[in-house]
Amino acid sequence: MRKAALLTQVLTVNTVLIVLTVIAALSVGVRLNGDLTGPPPLLVLAAAVLVTILANNFVMRRRFAPLESLTRTMEEVDLAVPGTRAQPSDDEPTDVARLRETFNVMLHRLETERIAAASAVLRAQEAERARLARDLHDEVNQALAAVSMRLAATAEGAPPELADELAETQRLATQAMHELLALARELRPAALDDHGLVPALRTQVRMFGERWSMPASFAADGTRPLLGEFEQIVAYRVVQEALSNVARHAHATRVKVTVMGCNGTEVKVTVTDDGDGFAPDRLNSGRSGLAGMRERALLANARIDVRSIPDEGTTVELTLPARGLRIAS
Ligand SMILES: Nc1ncnc2c1ncn2[C@@H]1O[C@H](COP(=O)(O)OP(=O)(O)OP(=O)(O)O)[C@@H](O)[C@H]1O
Ligand SMILES: [Mg+2]
Repeated sequence: MRKAALLTQVLTVNTVLIVLTVIAALSVGVRLNGDLTGPPPLLVLAAAVLVTILANNFVMRRRFAPLESLTRTMEEVDLAVPGTRAQPSDDEPTDVARLRETFNVMLHRLETERIAAASAVLRAQEAERARLARDLHDEVNQALAAVSMRLAATAEGAPPELADELAETQRLATQAMHELLALARELRPAALDDHGLVPALRTQVRMFGERWSMPASFAADGTRPLLGEFEQIVAYRVVQEALSNVARHAHATRVKVTVMGCNGTEVKVTVTDDGDGFAPDRLNSGRSGLAGMRERALLANARIDVRSIPDEGTTVELTLPARGLRIAS
């Protein structure tokens, strides 16, 4: 069974003590004086209880307020949105101040450890994707290319009745190669590692436009933004998810991706569509896409801003610190 709140417990104990004291005082008074003149004992008792409850409630509530506020902060803390700290309140007793400071130190440690752990998981996941993409590209794709070439060679000397069958098999092999390359690119585009973020995004946007038959433009104010490898991967994945949302939810007629501040201290990557938009409460709908974007931004020490106006469109803006710098929040 859940115990009553501390304040209720203190009030109850105090009330019981006062009642007992009043009863004891009354019986001693009766025994000493032997007369029962004056107000009736029950009235005295009721008045004592009432005054005790009111006075205690008033005093105790003020005393417990700092603890109450600390509890509220503890309940609200979300490690995915770091930076919340319990603030000192007026008349804070020393033991509550100690509790608050200890809680803040613990929070800082938890946030740091969580970021380190999540970042290690994300880096490992990206490394695994890169390895898989390389294997698919270098080995499976090579094998399929060899199959396709042998089929072409076989078709040359094959009897005419097998020609259609061989041509169809070759077509299937070529289609499998294309699908495989698309899968490898989705896992980790070689352009990102070989040429950097801007060419990789340009290709991603072009292919998105072709695939969804939607005008998709790309613009950048430089070719090599001053970003580390991890930050570039984060930017690429955020754009990938934002574009996937445009395709799946926006009903947009056009989309625009920009990379600005390539030579500055902050690099801004934006994805803007002119689609349906969505109400702000969907931002916390608990789905994984937008939450994943936030998580990635947090791990790259970046800021993400999703602005959406129903019937006007959505803009996802990621602000990354240039290499070696921190972003002002
Ligand atoms: N560009 C957009 N235009 C219109 N609505 C959007 C857009 N981006 C997101 N939304 C809305 O916000 C919701 C949450 O998006 P989010 O990416 O988190 O989840 P999801 O795309 O539904 O699922 P998941 O990404 O996990 O596969 C979407 O379901 C959609 O309603
Ligand atoms: Mg999504």
